[in-house]
Amino acid sequence: MKKKLFSVMLAAAMAASLLVGCGSGAPASSGGGNGKVGVAMPTKDLQRWNQDGANMEKQLKAAGYDVDLQYASNDIATQVSQIENMISSGAKVLVIASIDGDSLGTVLAQAKEAGIKVIAYDRLIMNSDAVSYYATFDNYMVGTKQGEYIKQQLDLDNAAGPFNLEIFTGDPGDNNARFFYGGAIDVLKPYIDNGKLVVKSGQVDFDNVATANWSTENAQSRMDAIISANYADGTKLDAVLCSNDSTALGVTNSLEANYTGDWPIITGQDCDIANVKNMIAGKQSMSIFKDTRDLAAKTVEMVDAIMKGTEAPVNDTSTYDNGTGVIPSYLCEPVFADVNNYKTLLIDSGYYTEDQLK
Ligand code: BGC
Repeated sequence: MKKKLFSVMLAAAMAASLLVGCGSGAPASSGGGNGKVGVAMPTKDLQRWNQDGANMEKQLKAAGYDVDLQYASNDIATQVSQIENMISSGAKVLVIASIDGDSLGTVLAQAKEAGIKVIAYDRLIMNSDAVSYYATFDNYMVGTKQGEYIKQQLDLDNAAGPFNLEIFTGDPGDNNARFFYGGAIDVLKPYIDNGKLVVKSGQVDFDNVATANWSTENAQSRMDAIISANYADGTKLDAVLCSNDSTALGVTNSLEANYTGDWPIITGQDCDIANVKNMIAGKQSMSIFKDTRDLAAKTVEMVDAIMKGTEAPVNDTSTYDNGTGVIPSYLCEPVFADVNNYKTLLIDSGYYTEDQLK
């Protein structure tokens, strides 16, 4: 059932053509007192969520809302109880980046009962009809950009190969992970099938390449095992597809400790500070920049529309079915980042200071 749903979603993702980017349309301040918005974030451990939370809080306050911002240390029970508190303390809208997309059905039924609207933030909340909108980046496009990068760098259509590839994706409870993996594997699978790409570990299917909690340590220990079984004899590893920066960091740490051959291509996502530093040092090849300021601005527009009883801005009404129907979505555009353009993207735009990347 899940597999079928996933392939329907992927087909829809490929067909989706409504993407128009993600403008920064934060509403002007209305001076406070517009009601309370609960913002539930998964964890402070990963840098991007700190940025998401801070941007949401700042922009919601500027638009006149009270904000209850909570982080749940990647613990599902903690996130559920934080949402229960938001409901009982009078939040009018909930903005939720779920830890496990399938675990919020019961608490969100309570929200619906209380007339509270829910926006799924970045990650889709599955199997709940309480979700009104979904604000995210084009997750399938993230994977496509990573796969295309490997394809171009190895010149897979012309070079003789074969090239050795290993694959690391994200948490199975995060619906996004399947889109990232799906986008990349759709580009790379033909070359795995015709033998130009060889995955020596044999680990290709989603379940075999998933990383619980997106954890750097889990990715690192899986890479340790892959190197010792397949690359310790000097066999060259040409590329590692990593769906995001936390997994890329684990892979990089493992390679630094255990691998002596030529450095492989390594992909990533988020432009976390540690990973941008690795890009500058030549240890990570690319990342995907998802400007969380733009995602926050779009989400605040959605909150505003809900509060005013108007329609929220969406640009995709076909891709993201959460099991209860398609959730109207706004997909921001993910941007390719590497050592050549990071200054413009990250420093000139004020996302990071130059000092943060030293
Ligand atoms: C987000 C990624 C992030 C990952 C791990 C995903 O849902 O879209 O940006 O790297 O979670 O936190």
